[in-house]
Amino acid sequence: MSRGCSYWIQRLLMAAWLLSWKKWLSAIDIGAAAAAPNVKPQGNISKVEDAQNYHIYYGQTFKVIKNGIDGKSYLLIQSDTRMAGRTKYCTPRIKSFVIPLSNFSVDTTTSFPVSFFELLGVVGSMKGMTSNTVASECVLKMVEGGEISLINASEPQQLAPFAAHFVSNLDHFQACNFANFAATGEDSPLQRAEWIKFLGAFANLEKRANQVYKAVKDNYLCLIKVPEAKEKAFKPIVAWMEYQNGIWSFTKELYKLKYVEDAGGENVDASINKITYNISNPDDIEDLHAILCTVDVVIDETYSWDAIGYNTTTFLQNINIEDHSCFGFLTNQSIWRYDKRIHNLTTLDWFDGAVSQPQLVLADLIEILFPTGNYNTTHFRNLAKGEGVVSIEPNMCQRDMSTPLDPTILPCP
Ligand SMILES: *[C@@H]1O[C@H](CO)[C@@H](O)[C@H](O)[C@H]1NC(C)=O
Ligand SMILES: *[C@@H]1O[C@H](CO)[C@@H](O)[C@H](O)[C@H]1NC(C)=O
Ligand SMILES: *[C@@H]1O[C@H](CO)[C@@H](O)[C@H](O)[C@H]1NC(C)=O
Ligand SMILES: *[C@@H]1O[C@H](CO)[C@@H](O)[C@H](O)[C@H]1NC(C)=O
Ligand SMILES: *[C@@H]1O[C@H](CO)[C@@H](O)[C@H](O)[C@H]1NC(C)=O
Ligand SMILES: *[C@@H]1O[C@H](CO)[C@@H](O)[C@H](O)[C@H]1NC(C)=O
Ligand SMILES: *[C@@H]1O[C@H](CO)[C@@H](O)[C@H](O)[C@H]1NC(C)=O
Ligand SMILES: *[C@@H]1O[C@H](CO)[C@@H](O)[C@H](O)[C@H]1NC(C)=O
Repeated sequence: MSRGCSYWIQRLLMAAWLLSWKKWLSAIDIGAAAAAPNVKPQGNISKVEDAQNYHIYYGQTFKVIKNGIDGKSYLLIQSDTRMAGRTKYCTPRIKSFVIPLSNFSVDTTTSFPVSFFELLGVVGSMKGMTSNTVASECVLKMVEGGEISLINASEPQQLAPFAAHFVSNLDHFQACNFANFAATGEDSPLQRAEWIKFLGAFANLEKRANQVYKAVKDNYLCLIKVPEAKEKAFKPIVAWMEYQNGIWSFTKELYKLKYVEDAGGENVDASINKITYNISNPDDIEDLHAILCTVDVVIDETYSWDAIGYNTTTFLQNINIEDHSCFGFLTNQSIWRYDKRIHNLTTLDWFDGAVSQPQLVLADLIEILFPTGNYNTTHFRNLAKGEGVVSIEPNMCQRDMSTPLDPTILPCP
């Protein structure tokens, strides 16, 4: 077949597809999907309620995910349809995948929250990872048992055999089977967690994805009421701060600020207009000193190659302020890091389980802000009390991996 001919066939198919999609969408728009029986979607459907960066549309034999992060559309074609055999797209605008995926691989080198796959119950189809830098004891156990192979991201022929290769780093070269998963591009904890529906669509597991997200969201929204019920004259002031190359900075990341508000605290950022402080500059030191005198809780986000050795002494050395007399977070012993759950001293569950189950982070923060003493935090450890890390090892996996992981639902009055 000449190039011109197949080009026109492709254009025709594309036009037909766009028409059917548009027709279906307009049916939904007028709230009368039933009036257009030919284009009524069937089976399980996920509706994206909170996340901003993707949308899912349903046709009869296919789905379309519009990914706002890379501007691409993913056409997901049901494997048992004629379309699956005859249609394949890999253009700058659209890529096609045959679903449910028979297998997939994941770019774990740049940190990927594999816990989403555990919650869906599809780790059995996860056949490759680009490195063992994951913070899941059960995924590590599967790597150890040879059920998941380690593949080399620099060798395209090692990534090609998989029905999809999930990545979270947009800068990478993108082959035809790459799908961008961008939960961490969202602005709020719940929006991040709702990306389980994105992955669910690739596995026809919309029902499970909806169920997990609803359970997580209901629990999160219920936990917000706990601090609201505590009568306090003033909200505790929280500073997320990070030291790098002689500069301290307060976070501007919206989801972190949102966590503090939802936990009943107040962000230091709201009251200052300067974000960075150079510890070689006496004026900056003076300003930083004054701000820290107003802070009740410090969350030290400073990167360290030696997480276990990082303690209060390290924090105070980096601060470079000798007079600690006004530091309420020191007298009250409230200096925290989110590296409590860690694999091989480098890979934090903060970038994995904390993304898929934000209710656990919120519960930690509520305990940090309003201590009861009878709740053990999951992700945060208290430096001021010398709390150590929990090292994630494959032998900690106690679960039957053929069943999905259920989200942890915390008691909530
Ligand atoms: C709906 O989801 C269930 C599992 O939750 C699955 O068994 C079934 O095949 C799905 N139906 C469709 C049409 O995708
Ligand atoms: C991965 O592939 C690249 C390019 O072929 C090679 O240089 C590198 O050593 C490989 N890495 C590992 C861990 O095998
Ligand atoms: C993945 O599934 C495809 C079929 O979609 C199959 O051809 C391929 O061999 C499988 N690859 C692996 C690594 O299991
Ligand atoms: C911090 O201040 C010192 C002294 O003024 C200066 O030499 C250094 O370049 C500053 N660092 C940064 C990152 O601006
Ligand atoms: C922190 O660790 C250093 C080095 O191991 C040690 O000298 C110091 O006493 C520790 N500080 C605290 C508060 O435990
Ligand atoms: C220390 O904690 C107690 C009880 O949580 C609180 O009443 C007090 O205001 C805190 N002090 C400072 C300086 O943060
Ligand atoms: C732990 O990390 C180091 C480098 O950071 C690496 O050399 C080593 O192989 C890793 N060990 C395991 C068990 O993954
Ligand atoms: C917290 O952890 C400690 C040590 O593992 C344990 O003894 C204690 O019972 C736990 N507390 C709660 C409330 O779970």
